Order: sequence, then C-alpha cells, then structure tokens
Amino acid sequence: MSDMDRRQFFSVSAVPGAAAGLATAFGSRLARPTLATDRPERSFRFVQFGDTHFGAPATLPLAASPEGYPKALRQVQAMEDPPDFILHTGDIITDAFWATSESAREQWRLYRQIMQAHCRIPVRYTLGNHDVNFDWGWGDETTRYPGKSLALEQLELAAPYYSFDHKGWHFIVLDNTQRGGYNGFTHHLDEQQYAWLEQDLAATQGSIPTVISSHAPILTVTCFFCPSNKQHPDGLVIPNDWVHTDVERLHKLFRQYPNVKLCLSGHFHAVDHVQYLGIHHICGGAVCADYWRRPLPYAPEHEAGYGVVDLFQDGTFQYQYVDYGLVGYQEETPRERFPWERAGLMTSPATRSPQIQ
Ligand SMILES: [Fe+2]
Ligand SMILES: [Fe+2]
Repeated sequence: MSDMDRRQFFSVSAVPGAAAGLATAFGSRLARPTLATDRPERSFRFVQFGDTHFGAPATLPLAASPEGYPKALRQVQAMEDPPDFILHTGDIITDAFWATSESAREQWRLYRQIMQAHCRIPVRYTLGNHDVNFDWGWGDETTRYPGKSLALEQLELAAPYYSFDHKGWHFIVLDNTQRGGYNGFTHHLDEQQYAWLEQDLAATQGSIPTVISSHAPILTVTCFFCPSNKQHPDGLVIPNDWVHTDVERLHKLFRQYPNVKLCLSGHFHAVDHVQYLGIHHICGGAVCADYWRRPLPYAPEHEAGYGVVDLFQDGTFQYQYVDYGLVGYQEETPRERFPWERAGLMTSPATRSPQIQ
C-alpha cells in the first residue's frame, strides 16, 4: 500500500449537524485539517500526540523509527493553521515499566534529544504506564510520587497531575497509572488526586469549558477489539490495566460539571469516539503506530497519526485525526511484539523484576 493510499482522516464534531466537522468515520481523504465553516469563533487549536514510545536503546529490540517522529513534528509545526501546543497523552518513551533504570534513563535522553532537535512548540505531558516504574525509583524513597520521579524530572514537571488554562479553556491532566493489578499496574485515581481534582473542578464554577487528558481512556470501545480480553473463561473481560477502573466515580464527578466537554486519551494505539451522557471521549491513536511498526495487529485500520483539536468559544470542539504518513517503520516484522512478554514479566507481578535492558 502506498503512502498516499494509507492516508486517512477521522473527523468528529461536538455539535451534531455542524457541516464540515461532522463525523465522517475513516476514509475521508482531506489533504489537511480544515475548519468547519459554520462554527462560532474559535478559541485556538492544539494537537494531541498519543503514544510516541520513542527512544529505544540498541539493547532493546524495539527500534524507534528515526525518521517517523521528526516527520510528525515537522508536519505539525508546518501547518498553515498552526496549533498553540501539543498535548501528549502519555507513553512518551518506549518503555520504562519493564526496563532497568539505566535503560529508562537512556530512553529519556534519546527522547529529549529528538525533541530538542525537532520541536519548537510547547508540549504539555501526561504520564503513561510505560513512562513509570514501580520497581526502582529515582530518589523515590522520599518522593511524593513513587515510581514517577524520573519521568517528572525528565519532563520538568512538579507533579504527575496538574491543570492549566489557555485562551478561555481549562485543561486537567490526570495521572491514572497506579501500582497493582495483574501486570503490576492498574488505572484509576488515588484519593489524593481525587481531592485535588474535586477542588480543581470546583474552581471552574461549572462554566470554563474543560478538556481532560488521561493516558488510559476513561471510556472507550477500542478495548473490545483487543484479542487478549477474549481469552478469559468468562468471555469478554476488560482488564484493569486497560481502562479506568473508577469510571463510575469519575463520570459521576464530571457530570456535576457541564463544562467538562472532552476527555482525550491514548493507550490503545487506536482511535475512537464515545459520547456518554453529554461527555465526549476520544482515544487518540498513536504517533508510533505499533511501536514504530505497522499495521497494528489487532486493529490494522488504525494508522499512525495525531489529533488536531479546534476549541471554540461556545464550548464546542472539532477533532480530526491525521495520518501523517509514517515513514521508516517496519512492516510485518518477524521481531517479537514486546520483549518483556518473552521475559515472562507480564505473567506474575510477584516474581517480576527489572530485566529488560
Ligand atoms: Fe502505548
Ligand atoms: Fe499505555
């Protein structure tokens, strides 16, 4: 399949009936992100990067495409209608969770290096499960955020969850990777974060339109297409390291605030749009496709890409998924999918130890 044949566009609008932004599913072959013509005044545009998984040291057999990530960054920065910033929804580096501390540090070094060389616009980061490690720390004996301090230091963040305002919109960045679960991590907010979130939402007084960023989705349908959840004897089971296990509590809280408009996430490397009780949830694909390979084995329709999000003054939005034309990827590679699966690290948290270089 040629590069152009693969190019696809997924577009969605928050307002049913709005002309050009109306959901078109996959297949619309627009050349560049365009704005709907009959919308209210726009506040600004930003880009969502999901799952870049960049920076594999030579010892880790998951080589990132050296050309792919710079291409995505170049394309974003060359837009005629440029974004104000990139919102990264996590899984920034290849993998720290199953790695040694030395490997993780090297991955962060490579990531910072490529960002320094190719990125000229601000990036707001969300932590993903592959950005943290609960087995070793980095001064984690004394930190408030065990397992996350190396990522925080590398990203120059004071805390793994935070909020900010931009041109009339409020952004809440959540940290949903917690210790526990079958594979050593699970997705939910701890009590400390809930207390902070409740306060942060209360400060919006229900009026400032708000975007939520989390790594694992709060609500998604992408999980129904992953093969491993069908292997459970009970049939279809959604594992607790795939989506928020506290979805009910979180949604109940969000529903008190009609200004919570859009929840963006990643983790599945696939794209979907779920609207539930007035709140939109978009799982925003992956810049790296399947760790810089394609196609994604469990959902080959989903190409490497990023989201272009236009936010409007009336609290509506327009989302477009852009296949940027991944280059330098490996197609149908014979290499193993995840080296940490070979090492047996995902089968028993009790015996798990850092083994991946
Ligand atoms: Fe990922
Ligand atoms: Fe993830």
